[in-house]
Amino acid sequence: MEKLLDQMTQLQAEYAEAVAACSSEKDLADVRVRFLGKKGALTRILRGMKDLSAEDRPIAGAHANELRSIMETELAEKRETLARQALEKRMTRETLDITLPGKIDKQGVLHPLSRVMDKIVDAFIGLGFHIAEGPEIEFIRYNFDWLEIPEDHPSRDESDTFYISDDIVLRTQTSPVQIRTMLSSKPPLRIICPGRVYRPDAMDATHSPIFYQIEGLAIDEGITMSDLVGCLSLFAQATFGEDSEIRLRPHHFPFTEPSCEVDISCPVCHGVNSESCRMCKGEGFIELLGGGMVHPDVLKNGGIDPEKYSGFAFGIGLERTAMSRFGIKDIRYLYENDLRFLTQFQA
Ligand code: DAH
Repeated sequence: MEKLLDQMTQLQAEYAEAVAACSSEKDLADVRVRFLGKKGALTRILRGMKDLSAEDRPIAGAHANELRSIMETELAEKRETLARQALEKRMTRETLDITLPGKIDKQGVLHPLSRVMDKIVDAFIGLGFHIAEGPEIEFIRYNFDWLEIPEDHPSRDESDTFYISDDIVLRTQTSPVQIRTMLSSKPPLRIICPGRVYRPDAMDATHSPIFYQIEGLAIDEGITMSDLVGCLSLFAQATFGEDSEIRLRPHHFPFTEPSCEVDISCPVCHGVNSESCRMCKGEGFIELLGGGMVHPDVLKNGGIDPEKYSGFAFGIGLERTAMSRFGIKDIRYLYENDLRFLTQFQA
């Protein structure tokens, strides 16, 4: 009996030492197997119990139970200590140094062209128009023929159009989308088509070989010129403010009859003392777009019966509109991606 109790005391000491030396969960698991496992040290000592007398056996048994529970407790405590130490270590490692200077997020702004385009498109969507799109590399029949632009029209010259092949060009206008829309859907039609167009112009303060237009087309029964005037007045007000007015001048486009050029009242001088205005140069108005009633032959080319339907169309120059809206004097500023310029248009 004495021997057995001594063994237990010694085991407890050895165990305490082993637990103290543990530095990980795995160490703890190994110690547990070594001392408390089925083939562990405690089990081995307890095997000696069978040689004890009937009185001694329960005493030794009680000792053994107490020892096991002490050992389990020690193990649990050590496990907790290790976990706490690991957490502390991690917290130290992950501490935020709030004295470091922060990173300043640079927020972008919309390009002035996008800004004006969104305004215009929104105004027409409010009138029930849908956005339509067409390819920038376009067949001549859409870009010229079916818009009734005659073969000898100067705009078809190589000096005015980028030719890809005999029947394919870089579109010179967004008007071909009119034909594409007519051929792909039935009236009533109301579409607005913002997009890029191309012409071989040298770059200067008012020209660029790549620029943007916004095409509009409405076809229904009983559409008249007054519908065009109403829509364009709304465009002027949405883009330039409530007091903006439009003025129509007779003009000629092959695909509209009658045709007009449309000016908006000068957003800088509003026509008052315009003689000294640098924006409109004395005109009081600025030319922004062309439009008119869709020519009956163009309706026919689009598969629409001109006896039943009529429609209006227009094409807005986006750069010109943005330049007038923001008082930009040179078109090249719009393409240079200079942040000093672009960040001026935030409102
Ligand atoms: N496509 C013409 C241009 O580029 C603009 C235009 C004029 C479009 C009259 C139209 C229109 O839809 O009806 O100069």
